[in-house]
Amino acid sequence: MKIARTINEVRAGVAGARASGKTVGFVPTMGAFHAGHLSLMRRAGEACGFVVVSLFVNPTQFNEQSDLAAYPRHEALDAKMAAAEGVDVLFAPEVREIYPEGDATTVEVRGLTDVLEGASRGAGHFRGVTTVVCKLFNIVQPDVAFFGQKDAQQALVVQRMARDLHVPARIEVCPTVREADGLAMSSRNVRLGADDRVRALALRAGLAAAEACVEAGERDPAAVERAGAAAMRARGVDPEYLAVVSAESLGPIRPLAGRVLVAVAARVGPVRLIDNVILDVSNS
Ligand code: PAF
Repeated sequence: MKIARTINEVRAGVAGARASGKTVGFVPTMGAFHAGHLSLMRRAGEACGFVVVSLFVNPTQFNEQSDLAAYPRHEALDAKMAAAEGVDVLFAPEVREIYPEGDATTVEVRGLTDVLEGASRGAGHFRGVTTVVCKLFNIVQPDVAFFGQKDAQQALVVQRMARDLHVPARIEVCPTVREADGLAMSSRNVRLGADDRVRALALRAGLAAAEACVEAGERDPAAVERAGAAAMRARGVDPEYLAVVSAESLGPIRPLAGRVLVAVAARVGPVRLIDNVILDVSNS
């Protein structure tokens, strides 16, 4: 596996792969790899002949400087893990390589970014994500790019950006990988102390309660949201939001029908966690 620091190195690797007829898969990451990242790399390896993974803690998508400063970084370990998954190029650039002096261009998806994470973290968060992902797409020019379902809104926003800007890549969204007890894998989980690690299960419990409520026949989103939030509070965690929305538009649907996203965010100790589930809701 090659560790590339510059755009030219990535482009040379990708050009070589294309010259030998390989398709290019791309997994954008901020490092601190866990089983969720590894599953994306594995999937990229199954689907494509050449796999590029980026490891870049993107400063423009953090709304809190303390979160950026505390974001776990262990490149040497990450590199070993990526190599073991058969990744061909690990692109780990400096900030200046991605944001050159005088950088003045951003990419913004309107509408989809106004709600959920966009409302909680501010418009700058998704602007930072779409700007960096657009830059990375232009650098790597993948055939397929792989994103995790855990960041459901991010996946939708990236899909919309790729469609609107005619990015010639397919976006594949892969299932959330969970710990044995159901906690969604996240690079931030390592910052949970023992008590908070137990309380973090409240997110999964909130989603399960919302799902059970729908299964019992409830079609009023507000009632489903109340049931989910109550289950979380019973475990000592106040949701920042627990929202039941359309899985396609992220807008309200009442009564619930079709593909419904139940998305949750909560602060547990020093860490802000998110999770979600998609339900197929029948009209009956
Ligand atoms: O999901 C992430 O880790 C980041 O938001 C991404 C897509 C790598 C962009 O920085």
